[in-house]
This record gives sequence, structure tokens and C-alpha cells, in this order.
Amino acid sequence: MKAIVIERHGEPDTVRLTDVPTPEPGPGEVRVRVKATALNHLDLWVLRGIPGIPPAFPHVSGCDVAGVIDALGPDVPGRWQVGDRVLVNPSLSCGECEYCVRGQDNMCDTFGILGEHRWGGMAEYVTVPARNLHPIPPALSFEEAAAIPLVFSTAWQMLVTAADIRPGELVLVLGAGGGVNSAAIQIAKAVGCQVWATTSTQEKVERAYALGADWVVNYRENPEWSKAVWKRTGKRGVDVVVDNVGQATWSTSLRLLARGGRLVTVGATTGPAGETDIRYVFWRHLRIIGSTMCTRGGFLDMLRLVEQGKLKPVVDRVLPLEEAAEALSILARGEQFGKIVLRVA
Ligand SMILES: NC(=O)c1ccc[n+]([C@@H]2O[C@H](COP(=O)([O-])OP(=O)(O)OC[C@H]3O[C@@H](n4cnc5c(N)ncnc54)[C@H](OP(=O)(O)O)[C@@H]3O)[C@@H](O)[C@H]2O)c1
Repeated sequence: MKAIVIERHGEPDTVRLTDVPTPEPGPGEVRVRVKATALNHLDLWVLRGIPGIPPAFPHVSGCDVAGVIDALGPDVPGRWQVGDRVLVNPSLSCGECEYCVRGQDNMCDTFGILGEHRWGGMAEYVTVPARNLHPIPPALSFEEAAAIPLVFSTAWQMLVTAADIRPGELVLVLGAGGGVNSAAIQIAKAVGCQVWATTSTQEKVERAYALGADWVVNYRENPEWSKAVWKRTGKRGVDVVVDNVGQATWSTSLRLLARGGRLVTVGATTGPAGETDIRYVFWRHLRIIGSTMCTRGGFLDMLRLVEQGKLKPVVDRVLPLEEAAEALSILARGEQFGKIVLRVA
């Protein structure tokens, strides 16, 4: 099969479209003929190398898969048939450890992510556990379906489960153009929060408003954006900050929180070493909440809102699989709003 193969750590121009053996589904697995796969920032981390994760080359990344079941391995439940339109939950868990048994499968002892810990969707075919499959909602194209799984499930877990956002709360989302963040804006609005956002261009400001944000500030044009936020709250601060930007914004995020506020993080795009003024944390009763991916139950809850049309995929552009290197470069430069999707012919 054709795949975008990582043969060494590097920048987007190092990936190659090449032929690799077509994978065979093992017990409990299916092989999916990939129709579309969406990029995530994780693809860049995987390509550049993640400390502590030894490289296993060649590797195929791609966490988000939408396609058609092509073959069934042994012991796949009868409800799945060749030809079914499916999207794939990228969270890989054992189903048996203490955390999985408690329904916290995103904390599984052997937790992994499709495209990071096993070959992913930047290929004509991918094998996945059947338990990770979901039917694609009928109203969605393959390209739209591929834009859903990782970012909407991560944003759901982060806001609904971890930060426990409530109707009427004020949520500030930093970097509205990001995949997780464009999902977070919609989820916070669906819960009934007031949502403010920052972003980097005028066009993205408009796109954030179109997603439902109540107020948006351009952080590039307005380096004093945090003062504008603070002033707009009447010096009260916001209830929740969504910060996966990391080092560049961390200390500012903490200062923007109201008493009892929560900072929720799933990532550190600009670097891992944010400065925490501990005095803010105790004096203002702040909580710093980490979250990763999503439970299987949370994934179902999120998908239900997609099916009802209350959460909508944000597809920035669709490119052919052959242009994966260019697509990864666009993501690395942060030019996208929402998801860059690769169509697999
Ligand atoms: N733990 C988990 O489960 C999990 C899951 C998903 C993602 N993540 C992590 O979360 C982060 C976001 O992932 P993603 O796939 O959504 O990334 P993405 O689509 O590449 O979005 C990143 C966004 O960050 C914003 N940004 C970058 N530098 C900024 C700065 N200096 N100030 C303000 N905003 C800035 C930009 O927003 P604008 O376009 O608005 O400028 C950019 O679009 C990554 O670090 C990723 O690894 C973790």
C-alpha cells in the first residue's frame, strides 16, 4: 500500500510517500480502507521525536481515520461488516487494568494513541481494534468525519469531565485556530458558557466568531491582549482558561483567572516550562487541571452531539495524501483554522 512514511526524525520535508506492506488485521481488529485522515499537532511531535519514546522506524502517523471496513480479523463482533463507513477513536487502552475497569481508560496502564504508538492513518489502509470503531454519522462526509475524533474527544474530556464547566461560566480559549481549541469553543458554547478567545489573524478572528465565540482578540496585533481581557471582566478574571499554548502564555493564563478559577491544559505547543507564581494559586484558590485524550464513554457522549448537529467539524482545507509534507508544513506554521484533512484516493 501507499503510505506517508517517517524514516527518521525531522521536519515535514523529510516524510515520503512510499510503498509499505499492507497490514493484516489481528484478533479483534479490522482493516480500514482509509478515505480521509486529519492532521494533529501530535503528528509534528511524532515526526520531530518525543523524549522518552524510542523511535521505531519506519513509522506511519495519523491519529484521525475515517474510511470503510475492508477486512475483518478473527473474533470481530458480528455488528461490523466489510463496507461499513466508520470513524476511529484513536485512544488505545487494554480494557482490563485498574483504570480501564473504573472507566478511566484514558489513564490505562498501556495507554496509547493511534498514529503515535502504532501505525496510523496516513496510508491507504490501517488496522485498528474493532472496539475503537464508530459508525460515521450519515450527514458527514469522510473528510468531515476525519476532523472529529482526536480534537473533539480531547476537548470534551478537558472541559466537560476534567474542568467540569457549567452554564454561564466565562471560558477563555487561547489560540482559537487550533484543532482542539476550535472544538473547545463549540463544546463550551454547547454547555451554555460565555466564550472568549484569542487568535492570530483577522480572518481567524472572524472564523472564531462564526464558531460561536462571544468576544475574540487578535493576540498578534494586540500584544496587550491580556490587559484587554482583564479589563473586560471588570478586573474579576475568567472562570476557566483553556491553555495548550504552554510556555508562551502559562503565567498570563494564571493571572487572568478569577478566584476559584481553573486552568485546564492538554498540551504545551510553545514549550513545557511555564512559570507558576504559587502565590496566585493559593490566594485565589486556583486549580491547575491536566487532561489527556478521552474516555470511551466521553467519546460516545461527544459523538452524540455531533450526530445532533450541535458540534460541527471545522475543516480548514482538504489536500491529497501525496501532499502530506506540505500539509504538515502548514500546520507547523500555524496557518490553519481547525483541521487540515488529507484525502486518500
Ligand atoms: N493531551 C492530549 O490529549 C492532547 C490532545 C490533543 C492535542 N494536544 C496538544 O495540544 C496542543 C494543541 O494541539 P492541536 O492539534 O489543536 O494543535 P494545532 O491545531 O496545531 O493548534 C495550535 C494552535 O495554538 C495556537 N498558538 C500557537 N502559538 C501561540 C501563541 N504564542 N499564543 C497563542 N496561541 C498560540 C495557534 O492558534 P491560532 O491559530 O489561533 O493563532 C495554533 O493554531 C498541542 O501541543 C498538542 O500536542 C494534547
